[in-house]
Amino acid sequence: MKEIKKESTLFVFEDLKALPSEILNLIHKAIEARKNAYAPYSNFQVGAALLLDNGEIITGNNQENASYPSGLCAERTAIYYAGSQYPDAKVLQMAISATAKNNPTETPIPPCGACRQAMVEYEIKQETPIAIYFMGEKGAVAKSNSISNLLPFTFDKSVLF
Ligand code: THU
Repeated sequence: MKEIKKESTLFVFEDLKALPSEILNLIHKAIEARKNAYAPYSNFQVGAALLLDNGEIITGNNQENASYPSGLCAERTAIYYAGSQYPDAKVLQMAISATAKNNPTETPIPPCGACRQAMVEYEIKQETPIAIYFMGEKGAVAKSNSISNLLPFTFDKSVLF
């Protein structure tokens, strides 16, 4: 038996002024996108913004459905749109803001497992890491230097062929 250990690292910014203006702008876009979430069932609103290497910023938010599993998270709404509209562009950075409408949170809320799996696909495709910043409604922002850092022991295409 051998043990395989993987380490994950997050950087937490309590003071947003420590972030570069490009990231603050992306965070602001995620917050604005969050406000347009369609989340009448969970009342949990999430916004995501992606900066592409062609300069475009793509935003998305969660879209719920009366048939609950038919809804989609903000991160996948945004990254699938980016992938469909700009298939050759690389995602440089991503920002997420999430909050329960009736219980605003000020601690960073990480993306769900399904979104990590969807996002790591693009990181593998583009062969460069996607930096991801996530937060609650306001307050501290957490940064991961890559998606794979949030998804150790990734399932990927290498096992398919
Ligand atoms: N949600 C997201 O948009 N992103 C996540 O990473 C976690 C959850 C959405 C899905 C659903 O509309 C609501 O938040 C509650 O789970």
